[in-house]
Amino acid sequence: MRFKTFFLAGSILLGLSNLSFGQGTIVGSKHDFSQAVNTWNFTAPVAASYQGQICLPCHTPHTANITTAGSNAPLWSHQLSTQTYTLYSGYKFTSSQHGSSTQTQPDGSSKLCLACHDGTVALAGFTVGGSAAYAASATIATFNGGSGVGNANQGTDMSTTHPISFVYDVNLSNNDRHLYNPSSTMSGVHGGTINADMLETAADGTAKMQCISCHDPHNAAGANHLLIKSNAGSALCYTCHKI
Ligand code: HEC
Ligand code: HEC
Ligand code: HEC
Ligand code: HEC
Repeated sequence: MRFKTFFLAGSILLGLSNLSFGQGTIVGSKHDFSQAVNTWNFTAPVAASYQGQICLPCHTPHTANITTAGSNAPLWSHQLSTQTYTLYSGYKFTSSQHGSSTQTQPDGSSKLCLACHDGTVALAGFTVGGSAAYAASATIATFNGGSGVGNANQGTDMSTTHPISFVYDVNLSNNDRHLYNPSSTMSGVHGGTINADMLETAADGTAKMQCISCHDPHNAAGANHLLIKSNAGSALCYTCHKI
């Protein structure tokens, strides 16, 4: 009886937190690789016993890759890209308003996204149990015959995309004057600050903007485009930009 009450209270709490911060799941999203549209995950070279799994193209429970440039990788299974990217060079990145933080080649978890989204690595290029990466197959640029892929293929030219892989801290918000202080401004995502909920801590302890500052690969919020929160009325942009 006590166990049952405890269990019920737990479910109610869980329900409430889902209600406040959105209710979504990877199942049924574009990252649900068990859907038949992901033909690359249902054919050789993916072994029959591993076909149609959701997590496996990104994570493996054993013999995983646990490092990428600048951070730890969560039990990563997918082959990484070796490309060099053209970086964003908009005006704040060439003026003193941007402050002292330097934009680097994509690092941390952004490297994980680009393992598929720069269109150069086979989608089925993941390992199981430490076996070698699967042989070449369709990339995000070519699967489904290249149709219906849209801008999922981000390519290697990042000069036309929102900057990532730079430190966003109070020095930057002071210099920029149109950014909120990430350490004290609430994000509206998981109940914490921008820093806690949207920035990624790098190996050197700094907090960086990455793809996951705006996107959630697991679709927890259930927002369009796998966004970390809905961008209705530009709410996502207004989280950080004081404009
Ligand atoms: C399309 C790739 C992709 C798929 C599919 C995916 N993940 Fe992830 N996962 C990531 C990335 C990238 C990160 C690191 C960035 C982050 O934490 O959001 C991550 C982080 C994690 C973490 C550590 C951080 C956290 O949020 O707790 C766990 C645990 C995790 N994933 C579990 C899963 C499970 C279980 C599945 C399958 C149901 C899954 N993931 C499917 C890409 C993926
Ligand atoms: C998690 C925080 C965050 C979110 C969310 C965010 N941005 Fe930014 N954005 C930044 C930071 C930090 C910079 C760098 C500003 C600087 O260097 O002074 C920036 C830079 C920019 C710039 C200026 C680039 C330049 O050339 O100076 C524009 C424009 C911009 N963002 C638009 C957007 C739009 C539109 C959205 C919503 C789709 C958005 N941002 C969402 C943090 C964010
Ligand atoms: C294993 C390969 C893989 C990895 C790793 C991966 N993705 Fe994807 N992603 C895909 C595929 C495949 C699609 C579907 C493309 C299509 O149907 O056009 C997709 C779709 C998306 C979409 C479009 C969602 C929509 O509803 O329109 C976004 C946004 C996205 N991914 C962001 C990310 C981000 C951010 C990361 C890293 C945190 C990431 N992806 C990592 C394979 C991957
Ligand atoms: C500042 C916020 C922000 C950052 C950082 C960001 N994105 Fe996005 N992304 C968005 C928004 C908003 C959309 C939806 C509107 C659009 O397509 O422009 C989007 C769209 C996408 C789409 C296409 C979705 C579709 O349905 O066509 C993909 C794929 C994607 N992003 C991947 C990435 C990857 C990979 C990174 C890191 C290299 C990244 N994004 C960084 C905000 C961001």
